[in-house]
Amino acid sequence: MSVSDIYQSMDYGPAPESAAEAMAWLDAHKRKFGHFIGGDFTKPAKTFASRNPATCEDLAQISQASQKDVEAAVKAARAAQPAWAKSGAKRARVLYALARALQKHSRLFAVLETLDNGKPIREARDIDVPLAQRHFYYHAGMAQLMASELPDAAPLGVCGQVIPWNFPLLMLAWKLAPALAMGNTVVLKPAEYTSLTALLFAEICAEAGVPKGVVNIITGDGAVGEMVVAADVDKVAFTGSTAVGRRIRAATAGSGKALTLELGGKSPYIVFDDADIDSAVEGLVDAIWFNQGQVCCAGSRLLVHEGIADRFYAKLRRRMEGLRIGDPLDKCIDVGAIVDPSQLAQITRLVEENQAGEMFQAGQVPETGCFYPPTLITGLHPADTLMQEEIFGPVLVATTFRTPAEAVQVANNTSYGLAASVWTENINLALDMAPKLAAGIVWVNGTNMMDAAAGFGGVRESGFGREGGWEGLAAYTRPKTKPKMQKPVAAFTGTGAPTDPIDRTAKLYIGGKQARPDAGYSRNIYGKKGQLLGQASLANRKDLRNAVEAAQKAASWSKTTGALRAQILYYMAENLAARGDEFAKRINDLTGTTTGKAEVEASLDALFTYAAWADKYDGQVHGVPIRGVALAMKEPLGTIGMICSDAQPLLGLIAPMAAAIGMGNRTVIHASQTYPLAATDLIQVLETSDIPAGVVNILTGDRADVAQHMGAHMDIDAVWSFADEATSTTVEAASAGNLKRTWVNHGAVPDWSDSHALLSHATEVKNIWVPYGE
Ligand code: NAI
Repeated sequence: MSVSDIYQSMDYGPAPESAAEAMAWLDAHKRKFGHFIGGDFTKPAKTFASRNPATCEDLAQISQASQKDVEAAVKAARAAQPAWAKSGAKRARVLYALARALQKHSRLFAVLETLDNGKPIREARDIDVPLAQRHFYYHAGMAQLMASELPDAAPLGVCGQVIPWNFPLLMLAWKLAPALAMGNTVVLKPAEYTSLTALLFAEICAEAGVPKGVVNIITGDGAVGEMVVAADVDKVAFTGSTAVGRRIRAATAGSGKALTLELGGKSPYIVFDDADIDSAVEGLVDAIWFNQGQVCCAGSRLLVHEGIADRFYAKLRRRMEGLRIGDPLDKCIDVGAIVDPSQLAQITRLVEENQAGEMFQAGQVPETGCFYPPTLITGLHPADTLMQEEIFGPVLVATTFRTPAEAVQVANNTSYGLAASVWTENINLALDMAPKLAAGIVWVNGTNMMDAAAGFGGVRESGFGREGGWEGLAAYTRPKTKPKMQKPVAAFTGTGAPTDPIDRTAKLYIGGKQARPDAGYSRNIYGKKGQLLGQASLANRKDLRNAVEAAQKAASWSKTTGALRAQILYYMAENLAARGDEFAKRINDLTGTTTGKAEVEASLDALFTYAAWADKYDGQVHGVPIRGVALAMKEPLGTIGMICSDAQPLLGLIAPMAAAIGMGNRTVIHASQTYPLAATDLIQVLETSDIPAGVVNILTGDRADVAQHMGAHMDIDAVWSFADEATSTTVEAASAGNLKRTWVNHGAVPDWSDSHALLSHATEVKNIWVPYGE
């Protein structure tokens, strides 16, 4: 037999990992678990089975939490929080001890995870558990640095966290580590299929010296998740399906609870004809068959340059035939079990219903257990269901493109925006593509790279908020000083006639033009003494629609340089300063106060501040543990809708507007309802300040006529509301449709001095991973 014959005939032998230790741990708990509340396990009650999806055997019974359990957990977390928040240095030691404890028990965690979830032991051992440890190490450092680096930040309080089943321990680490580092306490609910590593983690909390009540873990299904969301918590953090994300957005609207949602994806994997094809094929194994494709950022949509498509597919099919499917505890296995029969049924249904394209399936799946073969479906149209819907299984769908521009178009043709991979040996092309892709993460010649130091999270219906890095901490902190609440102001009334015969009806400002309101209504605006100051147009849904269309047309603003935007803001300040006295008088007349001069000064200051920041609010280069860099780029969100407060009618418009447009966003601004004429006077300043048409659009009238539509509008990327509580609630509830980012103040007095808050709300961080190569 020749060496070549030996190579041809060689096959992998099984290399089974022993389940004995994990089984012994389960046995030590009599295979029955209660909840972990206030540092102790409760008695198991109303239990259901947690199964091994590879064998369909029961592993243990876990408890379905009741309303009382959830309340007890929140109470324990609430009681523990003040002491926990006291010392970052002490928290750092505890987080460090948790990381060490995870390391000490790493194999037990890995095996238990594989048993419970069905993922290959190689992945649990080499990815899930080490990344979870890394998260605790990294955030131990953040706890240590909080006092010196984030002096104005305070913890939110108690966080309710609901996590999915695809990376049970890793998601727990992603949620717990930053929350605990910033001085919050936690009630966490793992997914009902995969609670066991969370319960093992609960046990090591005591070992690591976590004070009682700081970490509480309650188990159960979606109904328990709903209870956590509804409980008396200060923040809800969720990772899971977009459908549930929407429900949580709607359920928390107006509650004042902070919210981050890490949802689904349909991430494009783009291969150009000059790519290193073998690497790109190998990358796909990680992109879509890692964790059986049950990965929110899975490269599940393959876009291949037309000229190489056939060759690429052929290589890919050959590689798929080499994938080994089977017992997840076997270290030779590439593709393990699907988490649960219900998920298997979902994958099977979606694939069976598809009539389009050509399907290829590789490998033999075991007869028992939840297995699904690696699947490739080529020749799909970008609009086909399987190109649009998240399958969350080992199913890759593919289409071709001809030009880079077409690749961008097809890649962005999705309601999601979590991640994207670009494969090309031309770094210029890769770096040209990266900013154009609608995604929170872009991997150049790589996939599924993640680290605690780099923010993870998406845009559009992939949710909002970032996990990891400095940017992830904002989700677990609030400013130290609690804001005061706004007092409602009533409009002055009067009967006075205009002081001069010239028409004073202020129009709306849409697409760089003054526009009459669609409905043809306007309202008299009076001063304190009843004098008629002018008339304001009443904008409705159609005016809002026109303004959004104008903002869409001004998309090129987002591509301008910060330097140019700075100049325009300075110029606007110059033009406002020239009419400063006029504006001061207008504010005095409108509000019946004498604060006009100071407000004009503050407005000029805001324009100068955001002009200054426009070319200085830089991104970062994260030190991630690869030979390469992760570039955290600050990008504009797109179109921001704003509802202004009645406090400070000029500054309250100029400060957020300047921050937003300075960062490259377009704006649709609903001016102060009670004092709209300062905003409409500003139209003339805007007209003379070289601001391109559509970048700033101003509406006046009743905010109740537009708030709902602004929140729901599919082409608005974020909404800020600085007005009353009711408007905040309306905006949050309406935003559930396309899960846009919202920033609402629940009726508090806006703090215009906090430029960092404005800037971070005006930007999205995109992490672009660029490995250097070998
Ligand atoms: P899911 O979103 O229903 O479950 C995630 C977590 O949310 C679990 O802990 C669950 O108990 C909880 N939950 C369910 N309903 C809830 C509610 N109304 N309020 C609060 N918490 C609730 O995901 P599921 O049903 O397990 O999977 C369905 C689909 O979701 C998958 O096929 C996949 O497409 C997607 N998915 C996406 C994930 C991601 O990371 N992007 C993770 C898990 C699922």
